[in-house]
Amino acid sequence: MAEPLRIALAGLGTVGVGVIRLVEANKALIERRAGRPIAITVVSARDRTRARGVDLSPYAWEDDMVILGERADVDVVVEMVGGSDGPALACSRTTIEAGKALVTANKAMIAHHGLELAAKAEEHKVALKFEAAVAGGIPVIKGLREGAAANAIERVYGILNGTCNYILTVMEDSGRDFADVLAEAQAKGYAEADPAFDVEGIDAAHKLSILAAIAFGTRLDFASVDTAGITRLRAADIAQAHALGYVIRLIGMADAGSEGLFQRVQPHLVPMDHPLAHVDGATNAVVAEGNFSGRLLFQGAGAGDGPTASAVVADLIDIARSTRVGGEVANAFSMPVAELEAMAPAPSGHRLGRAYLRFMVKDRPGVLAEIAAALRDAGVSIESLIQKGRAGESGEVMVALVTHEGPESAVSEALRLLEGSDSLSEAPLVLHILED
Ligand SMILES: NC(=O)c1ccc[n+]([C@@H]2O[C@H](COP(=O)([O-])OP(=O)(O)OC[C@H]3O[C@@H](n4cnc5c(N)ncnc54)[C@H](OP(=O)(O)O)[C@@H]3O)[C@@H](O)[C@H]2O)c1
Repeated sequence: MAEPLRIALAGLGTVGVGVIRLVEANKALIERRAGRPIAITVVSARDRTRARGVDLSPYAWEDDMVILGERADVDVVVEMVGGSDGPALACSRTTIEAGKALVTANKAMIAHHGLELAAKAEEHKVALKFEAAVAGGIPVIKGLREGAAANAIERVYGILNGTCNYILTVMEDSGRDFADVLAEAQAKGYAEADPAFDVEGIDAAHKLSILAAIAFGTRLDFASVDTAGITRLRAADIAQAHALGYVIRLIGMADAGSEGLFQRVQPHLVPMDHPLAHVDGATNAVVAEGNFSGRLLFQGAGAGDGPTASAVVADLIDIARSTRVGGEVANAFSMPVAELEAMAPAPSGHRLGRAYLRFMVKDRPGVLAEIAAALRDAGVSIESLIQKGRAGESGEVMVALVTHEGPESAVSEALRLLEGSDSLSEAPLVLHILED
């Protein structure tokens, strides 16, 4: 029998336990597909005594996850701890430096340190794989890196955070406000106790920056993702969007061209006939537009023990296959790190598009005229305007409008003209409209 590929698991939470269950449940099938057994030899987490619902007795226990890669009984370390730095990063560095392959589900670490780790993996000629880090169980990294490898990718965008999509879907169905739905999502376990990474768009930005690097062959640049979350959305925005023929989704969007690398995570109005408008609940979806393939749509479960474990173990099977046949170790970002283009962030001002603008205003004469004048002076023309009635006891009124297509800089200029106006009771909300 072929030698097993020996695996160390760092982290035994949702994903780690999912990996143990999958490797056990599909053992025979995995061995046939990989051409050799995949055998977990050692595991590590913080608390050795914690009951995890799986039998850990077949595996050795290592208290210090950082040295897993240095053990003689380990060929690959799977990092499922989380956090951009700390023990996850230390463990990943020592693993690669020890000449062992690394598989990780950790998007925060890859978004911040992916290039360093990829360069190290090249130097040590080991695999670095992170399919589970982007969109959980959806094989989108494999899809871009391999299936679409022959294409220039013109644009990549999608729904990259299941928690936000779940909250938006419930807001849409129930007409309830954000804070209310978030509290319920937390109680049901769909949102973390500290939801900031999800609802502020940071988690989606981590994933977008990884996708962009692979799609465009550019150096990973998380810091320049223009990021906004869903916390400012009101039930009334969703209702207005609906009346105009749209749903609201948190969209991560990237393209690369002569203006530079554009990366943005923001709630968008999505036309109801767009495929992403039908992505509901905790589902994720990624669209990539290749110059020869045309539009590719990847959709599925973006999180959860089973789907995430599916992506982790697929990476292990790849490593088992390639090391068995003596194959090349694929580059983590689809090409050597030195080949990735350092592209400056693209300014957004020249971008053409339509936008939804929402103002919370004081209920008094002349407010609408003031907004209309600012838009006129900035050269923004209005496609449709909705003025809602009084919004509760505060006496505020909601004014929402959709602009005609124009440069984003014009909308920014209109908002600048309105800055400091005492007619507005909060900063205006701008949502871009996803065009086909
Ligand atoms: N959950 C998902 O659906 C999902 C999807 C895609 C990607 N991911 C990513 O996968 C990774 C793991 O997520 P998860 O949901 O499985 O997390 P989790 O349930 O919180 O599990 C984290 C594990 O790491 C261990 N750990 C934490 N700090 C440690 C430390 N300082 N030293 C040693 N072990 C430590 C914990 O040990 P104890 O159990 O002993 O406390 C726990 O077993 C994260 O990077 C996450 O972003 C998760």
